[in-house]
Amino acid sequence: MHTIIEPFRIKMTEPLLISSRDQREQWLREAQFNSFLLSADRITIDLLTDSGTGAMSTKQWAALMMGDESYAGSQSWFNFQSTVKEITGFKHIFPVHQGRAAERILSQTRLKPGDIIPNNGHFDTTRANIEFVKAEAVDLVIPEAKDLSCDHPFKGNMDVESLKSLIEAKGPEKIPFVMMTITNNTFGGQPVSLENIKAVKEILTLYKIPLILDAARFAENAFLIHEREAGQSTKSLLEIAGEIFSLADGATMSAKKDGLSNTGGFFACNNNQWAEDFKNMLILTEGFPTYGGLAGRDLEAIAVGLKEALEMEYQVYRHATVEYMKNKLSEIGIPLILPAGGHAIYIDARNFLSQIPSSDFPGISLVNAMYLEGGIRGVEMGSVMFGKRDPETGAETPAPFELVRLTFPRRVYTQSHFDYVVEVLKRVWENRENLPIYKITKQPPFLRHFSAHFTPTTRRGSAST
Ligand code: F0G
Repeated sequence: MHTIIEPFRIKMTEPLLISSRDQREQWLREAQFNSFLLSADRITIDLLTDSGTGAMSTKQWAALMMGDESYAGSQSWFNFQSTVKEITGFKHIFPVHQGRAAERILSQTRLKPGDIIPNNGHFDTTRANIEFVKAEAVDLVIPEAKDLSCDHPFKGNMDVESLKSLIEAKGPEKIPFVMMTITNNTFGGQPVSLENIKAVKEILTLYKIPLILDAARFAENAFLIHEREAGQSTKSLLEIAGEIFSLADGATMSAKKDGLSNTGGFFACNNNQWAEDFKNMLILTEGFPTYGGLAGRDLEAIAVGLKEALEMEYQVYRHATVEYMKNKLSEIGIPLILPAGGHAIYIDARNFLSQIPSSDFPGISLVNAMYLEGGIRGVEMGSVMFGKRDPETGAETPAPFELVRLTFPRRVYTQSHFDYVVEVLKRVWENRENLPIYKITKQPPFLRHFSAHFTPTTRRGSAST
């Protein structure tokens, strides 16, 4: 069949707010023109993130009711452990309350000041946890990733030559492990090829450096390998995932993505000493190792969700949604990162609003225009989120890109919702020359995108105070 349908039907509904422009103007003003500060019930279509925002299946809800809430050794833990083992093959498995808890414990148990961690693209919490222990996080994505419209099938790949040079220059003893993030969220949710993971592993074996995966979107990455990599289309997603994990020495995981769960995560590894150190810190800060800060019912929901994320029909439908949006928006002429990634569409706000310089935060103008036009929430990933501001002089260093991410929650919105998003974006595109810029009126010293206050202005020039 030509039409790819949602491979599920809807059993329980949640009302969506249909609001007026007047209401949205007032609400955005009350939120200080920062969509992070909007109350979620004032949003019609929420594309802020795909993290923890998915819909669970009937099987997951049924599993939830089987949750065994025993403090130690619960049946839910054994179900969780055996599923994670079946998929990843790792020897030691530790549940955590979300991905960054695994990153924190890994960083605090394995890193010392001055250490260097290369990655194809550190997610911001990974980078922050590494930098918190005074180690250095280095992104080594292939150069094609920085050309937004370059049509490379695996734009998330690591630059193997740069990795080799870095190890040679700094010495392997400075690099306790190398990470690979699948898919590469920081650089457009782009996949990493099996061939690239193998090439990285080969180098690391030479220098005896362990490889740790950030596996938050491992199933989407496995699907894109199945679709795009030569010789992979006859394998199941479970087989591809198994091959990916077999190349690694451990993994951090946010189950809020490809665990199809609203919370949770895990750390997994083969090394006994790493496991022992991780376990001790886990007990100190998260919980006993058979629940790690999660309820038994969460462990059950994740165990089912991890398997569902590897179902071919589900991934075919999910990727069809992303492709559908990419095609519709491209037809209008809206500039996007190409090819589309696994979980989101990234709009190039610098090209969309070419009259607005980085110093005036074009991504914020676009995010706010989408909300005002149709109650849609996206997220700015540009100079507000990644730009640097000198606390003494207030001087701004802009981010390399001005992006707006439209992230797709899993199994939540239907095609008509996405048609509506396209219509709203078309109107914003047609009116792009008249959008206001936003000036920051208040900002904290770090992670300012979450809580900064803005005000609209038509004045061009230095926007920051
Ligand atoms: N790694 C990647 C690649 C991520 O995208 C995220 C979260 C994390 C780790 C951290 O996991 O949130 O469970 O602690 N990404 C979300 C996003 C927040 O919107 O992209 P967490």
